[in-house]
Amino acid sequence: MISHVYATGNQLRWAADLSPGEVPRAADIVLAGLGGSGMAARVGALTAPSIPLTLVQGYELPGWAPGRKPLVVAVSYSGNTEETLAVFEAARAAGLPLVAVTTGGALAELAAAVGAAVVEVPGGLQPRAALAYQAGAVTMVLAAATGAASPASELTAAADVVDRTLDDGDGPGAALGRDLAEGIHGRICVIYGGHGVGAVAASRWKAQINENAKMPAFASEVPELDHNELEGWGTLPDLGRRTIALVTLRDPAGHPRIEQRMRLTTEVVRGKVAHVGEVIALGTSPLSRFFSLAAVGDVASVELARLSDVDPTPVTLLEDFKRRLRED
Ligand code: F6R
Repeated sequence: MISHVYATGNQLRWAADLSPGEVPRAADIVLAGLGGSGMAARVGALTAPSIPLTLVQGYELPGWAPGRKPLVVAVSYSGNTEETLAVFEAARAAGLPLVAVTTGGALAELAAAVGAAVVEVPGGLQPRAALAYQAGAVTMVLAAATGAASPASELTAAADVVDRTLDDGDGPGAALGRDLAEGIHGRICVIYGGHGVGAVAASRWKAQINENAKMPAFASEVPELDHNELEGWGTLPDLGRRTIALVTLRDPAGHPRIEQRMRLTTEVVRGKVAHVGEVIALGTSPLSRFFSLAAVGDVASVELARLSDVDPTPVTLLEDFKRRLRED
């Protein structure tokens, strides 16, 4: 798993060279995907702020879709995720333009059968270990769909930022990830990020700690948490000080009031938790900033698995759950 983390830059460079093929132009876009593939959709969406985008992480198209005829981009690494297949099928039935981002599976077959564009990403990985392939591919698809300039140089710049910070384990981001893992180990990790890049990175951190380290973790975003969750630190101080580690993901290029809120929020929570860590985004584009924050979390999650002596790769509980659902 750690070698895939260190290959993030190479995955982004692969995407920079990708030609997404015949992508229909669109005024609205629906992105459908779950888990690691849903994360790729969210990262891609950060790169396309000028088009109305709706993320679907369920079984159904938004009610407005058949009337407005958006482009539906289905993202599923395996190509076999039932929710994403259901959305793709509903979109096909409604005659909507379609693109599939996948390694194969039923999604590739369905897309081929209806003549939809398929953007094939390299297979053989856990979906979460292929985030940069998929996010890069979604970024390319969104640029093609909106007629925007190729994002190849942003992808390459993000690759350089990630390679510098990880440097195959010798870089400052890798050292920070291992250090933060020491503070999180044996505790429940709460991750805070600012709306936009920071919040998407916080969700990635959470999912990586869940799936790689097999530990509970929770992510929230500022400013929303300043309107509810912050009050929740008011009681049970001993519990927090024994069991919770807070990681804040800071984005100096984000909205200045959000950065101010992040600083003040951390001041309120510090002292109520066992450990506080911080990661600061690098680079200028949303892709660079996201991947610089996520890369540290990826390392931390694999290090947490090592500290707990668990194999980061298999997701036995998730697979068992999918099996139970199929048999139910
Ligand atoms: C497993 C993982 C999961 C999957 C999710 C959807 O590594 O990251 O979150 O991404 O179960 O599966 P796919 O991506 O195949 O559609």
